[in-house]
Amino acid sequence: MKTLKTLSIALGALVLGAATLPASAADLANGKALVQKGACVACHGEGLNKPISPDYPKLAGQHADYLYHAMMSYQVSGNALVGRSNAIMAGQVNANPAVTGKDGKPRPFTRKELKDIAAYIESLPGDLVLKK
Ligand code: HEC
Repeated sequence: MKTLKTLSIALGALVLGAATLPASAADLANGKALVQKGACVACHGEGLNKPISPDYPKLAGQHADYLYHAMMSYQVSGNALVGRSNAIMAGQVNANPAVTGKDGKPRPFTRKELKDIAAYIESLPGDLVLKK
């Protein structure tokens, strides 16, 4: 009986633990590493909050789901119906020199990598506001 009780407590803890974790937890550390490797600050500026040109977007603090979908949209650049068709960012997300495949050539970021990047960028302090 005692073992059964212990077992059910252990099981309960397992279920609770799983319930508190988001379905696909993003890896902030991996996102940070990819942003550093990808040299995103070269254009989006210090802390991804000081773009080198006024027509380049500030990223820091932006919602992760927005960033994720924006980056996926750049990956389908060239499709007139979907995608953002921006040559600069298409290069960043599809053939970033810091991200290489088995053949040693630049490869697109995977969905998981984009999620990690998006979550990391959202965690950064930034000037973006919803309403002024
Ligand atoms: C060579 C300059 C350059 C580099 C390097 C660069 N970006 Fe960008 N990024 C841009 C420009 C320009 C835009 C705006 C493009 C447009 O008008 O759609 C942009 C847009 C974005 C957007 C969309 C923001 C929004 O508010 O819609 C995201 C997300 C983004 N970049 C992420 C990244 C990430 C992550 C990296 C590094 C892997 C990176 N960028 C590297 C120039 C750059």
